[in-house]
Amino acid sequence: MSINKFKGKLNYEEALESDKEAIEWLKKFNYKFGHFINGQFIKPKKLFDTINPANSSKIASISSGTKSDIRLAIEASKKGLIRWQKLTPHERSKYIYSIARNIQKNSRTIAVLESMENGKPIRESRDIDIPLAIRHFYHHAGWAQLIESEFIDYSPLGICGQIIPWNFPFLMLSWKIAPALAAGNSLILKPAEQTSLTALYFAEICQSVGLPPGVINILTGDGDTGSELIKQPELSKIAFTGSTEVGRKIKKDLAGSEKSITLELGGKSPFIIFDDADIDGAIEGLVDAIWLNQGQVCCAGSRLLVQESIYAKVYKKLIARMKKLRVGNPLDKSIDMGAIISSEQLNRINSIVSDSVKDGAELFQCAVPDDLEGFYFPPSLINKVSPSMTIFQEEVFGPVLVCTTFRTPSEAVELANNSKYGLSASIWTENINLALDIAPKIKAGVIWINSTNMFDAAVGFGGYRESGYGREGGKEGMLEYLKRDLTTVRNGSPPITKNRKHISNNDKSPIDETKKMYIDGKQVRGDSGHSLKVFDRNDREIVSIGRGNRKDIRNAVEAANAQKKWSELSAHGRAQILFYLAENLAQRKNEFVELLSQTQYCKDPEIEFYTCIESLFTFASWADKHDGLVHQAPIRANTLALNEPIGTLGIICPDNYPLAAFVNLFASAISQGNKVVIIPSETFPLPALNMYQIFDTSDLPGGVVNIVSGKHVEVIPTLSEHMSVEGIWHFGNPAHNQSIDIASISNLKQTWIVNRNHIDWLGKNNSIAKQLLRKSTQIKNIWIPYGE
Ligand code: NAI
Repeated sequence: MSINKFKGKLNYEEALESDKEAIEWLKKFNYKFGHFINGQFIKPKKLFDTINPANSSKIASISSGTKSDIRLAIEASKKGLIRWQKLTPHERSKYIYSIARNIQKNSRTIAVLESMENGKPIRESRDIDIPLAIRHFYHHAGWAQLIESEFIDYSPLGICGQIIPWNFPFLMLSWKIAPALAAGNSLILKPAEQTSLTALYFAEICQSVGLPPGVINILTGDGDTGSELIKQPELSKIAFTGSTEVGRKIKKDLAGSEKSITLELGGKSPFIIFDDADIDGAIEGLVDAIWLNQGQVCCAGSRLLVQESIYAKVYKKLIARMKKLRVGNPLDKSIDMGAIISSEQLNRINSIVSDSVKDGAELFQCAVPDDLEGFYFPPSLINKVSPSMTIFQEEVFGPVLVCTTFRTPSEAVELANNSKYGLSASIWTENINLALDIAPKIKAGVIWINSTNMFDAAVGFGGYRESGYGREGGKEGMLEYLKRDLTTVRNGSPPITKNRKHISNNDKSPIDETKKMYIDGKQVRGDSGHSLKVFDRNDREIVSIGRGNRKDIRNAVEAANAQKKWSELSAHGRAQILFYLAENLAQRKNEFVELLSQTQYCKDPEIEFYTCIESLFTFASWADKHDGLVHQAPIRANTLALNEPIGTLGIICPDNYPLAAFVNLFASAISQGNKVVIIPSETFPLPALNMYQIFDTSDLPGGVVNIVSGKHVEVIPTLSEHMSVEGIWHFGNPAHNQSIDIASISNLKQTWIVNRNHIDWLGKNNSIAKQLLRKSTQIKNIWIPYGE
């Protein structure tokens, strides 16, 4: 496909930013860079070229990280961690502050280097990327100072591995490094192979402020270096931003490793214009949404959804505005769009766009000057697309906008959610009621009302669905670099399984029945028709239970998904039902205590029973108190950070504390509006299965809690593979950890895997309740700008 080109030169003069300081800095290193390890630049070796995409010329040579470089960085970061943690929070805060100051002092040089290597307009690197990065370090200097008062019960994770992409090299570096440092971790950061220079400039800043060696290590190289880095056993955390494909690979490579992972992946974000919107404002917003950084933005507003009645007007204004966009040399201060990162990316964009034209889409492209030498692609608008077309569904990662229309607000929501991604959305309307009604209905981590691409260090950023999980920025971002101690063990040890030898006997205990499962508010027999025996503490067979299979899990998930009203019920309504569950359970004390006393997995039946009543009260209380926040970003906007339910959760219970673990797990999840498919203790599921009578008498709607009993090894795979399950909590046998991680890659479900044996479900451990609440929700940030 040929690019629409102007004949001759542009009819305006260039206003070039000087690259003098940047070139001097490159010269100082003789245009060759080694890794930054243990506070030193090591000798450059195994070099590859970094290219200026605006003219295809070589800028410098960068080292490709090898296994031995990685080991060196790991050893350095171990020492760095000790040095960093020896400092007081105030001392750490001062270092982070000093980094911010020094970036500020050198901001122009960094901006030029960034534009030279990435191809983005200097106007953006100078006015957006670098100021936001500075703000990130200042903000996190504050968190470092406040860590002990604001994060009680938390400790740092240890050594973090961080991998960033090429689209916002310096900003992504700050998003990764600032919270990791503030939380007290050391780290190894690998920049993208296309854009390593500003990370190396940053390394020199760390040296100049006297940061203890090994706290920050910068290791350059490509995907092979990244792939080797993440596998290092010493790393407690992997933070990745990049393609969904590599995100999946990382999850697979780390399956079962218990490393904390955050993934910030792709998107195909809707930009919705309602008929009462300020159309001129919306068109300017659209320019920022899709042509910022040549559209190479994970949260780019790449799907334009326009209300049908104003489509003709919007289209006309959009074309008129597009004709005024200037494409050119990134160092020219007056251009709107620079160069695409690489020839590979340019070819990729070309091929997706050509295919869509072949499929019948209508293409409009702006003209670009014909004397440009690098990798350029014109701002493009693709019309007449249907939601089933690849260009509507796949991330192009280029300056390409697709457009379609809708008639009603509910159709807009349907189209917006017709995507595997869920990173962000822009809503344009002058009607605040409509905006605040639509915002919670869109499945995305960030919503901008009458605005787009707003970011701030105080506000979390991250996605739903296949856009990844975890948040960067704000208090929620800090939590991704800290761990809560959940392993307090009551009285020294939990009730531990003894090696049973089953006594097949006729002397059965007083309880003699076959327990059914509980799906969609009904007691059901398992599909397999098979049952499992349950034994008491003396190895006497006391009862049979249904042996769940794939079909039972599918039915349970279907019931959970069909239950739409639970998440829409008011928090007060959910609280009432949880209180009622507690009340009804309390009346059945004798029966449950008797049941619990039958098993060695319960240490103290009365205490376990009363703990469950208290837990139901706890989560009933939290149902309407696990509030979000309002962030007051230092721009003219407030942000509502709302806690939203994840959706349908699959939960696997441990053997120990067969009632307390079960109650805490389901109650926390449903208190926040989730529906659950819960697999109770494999060895003693009776107290859990007896709960259905309590559910039935407490007005809990069918499908909110679904219980499938059986052999964990037989039911876990279907649950963790299921495309409609959005999160898995595994407190069961660690032998399943890896397979759960792998199975959950299909739809990138959030997994939370916890060592089953060391949680004190009976203790007054507020940490567990708080952590359960956090894992039950994902944060949606809704930006509401104000003023002119
Ligand atoms: P990528 O996901 O391959 O690269 C991002 C980072 O991951 C780089 O630092 C790279 O070296 C590293 N990496 C690559 N393979 C790895 C592995 N197996 N293990 C660990 N680290 C690994 O993205 P790429 O190839 O640069 O671009 C491909 C497509 O991904 C783009 O066309 C775009 O659609 C998308 N993309 C999305 C981004 C986002 O922020 N959502 C950012 C960059 C690319």
